[in-house]
Amino acid sequence: MTVPEPDIRIVSPHDELARQMVSALASDTDPRRRALAGILFGGDRWACVTNCAVAMLDRRPIGLATLSPTDECGQGGPHLIGVWVAPQERRRGVGRALVRALAEHARRQCHAAPTVECVTAAGLALAQSAQRSGVPIQVVNCVMPPFAWLDEE
Ligand SMILES: CC(C)(COP(=O)(O)OP(=O)(O)OC[C@H]1O[C@@H](n2cnc3c(N)ncnc32)[C@H](O)[C@@H]1OP(=O)(O)O)[C@@H](O)C(=O)NCCC(=O)NCCS
Repeated sequence: MTVPEPDIRIVSPHDELARQMVSALASDTDPRRRALAGILFGGDRWACVTNCAVAMLDRRPIGLATLSPTDECGQGGPHLIGVWVAPQERRRGVGRALVRALAEHARRQCHAAPTVECVTAAGLALAQSAQRSGVPIQVVNCVMPPFAWLDEE
């Protein structure tokens, strides 16, 4: 059976779709999901975002990634800030498609390859795989034990 490809949309962080995704995560009944929303898409990590990539499948949002012209402290060049894919849709290329879409958007906007600071093993595997397949990003390994639970969702 052929797995349907998600449609990747680049939207503003003020877009209804992106806001709904973050709100749904932040108000989930699972406390880990709520914590994840705060870590990946909350506070400074949301305030610095200028563009989001939303993955849609059958009109349902299934993944979100965010781009900023700097890191969340206002330092450096463009950064991919957060990426999340719904657990049931993982390991079939959705994360890589989100990263590719935002990296290409950054290149069109500011002619620079965004940095991805990876705090989870899955995030690092995703970024390295995207880079191997030619996506223009700079990968920084920031994997640390306190974030391991994000992988286990
Ligand atoms: C990280 C995440 C976005 C990956 O999304 P995904 O849609 O499953 O990623 P893809 O299917 O596009 O996978 C891309 C590559 O990463 C690898 N990968 C993805 N998840 C992995 C995992 N848990 N362990 C090892 N490798 C993994 C895939 O094997 C693939 O590599 P390959 O094509 O060279 O075989 C998803 O696991 C997630 O939302 N995790 C929780 C939030 C998180 O950790 N965000 C990143 C913070 S830095």
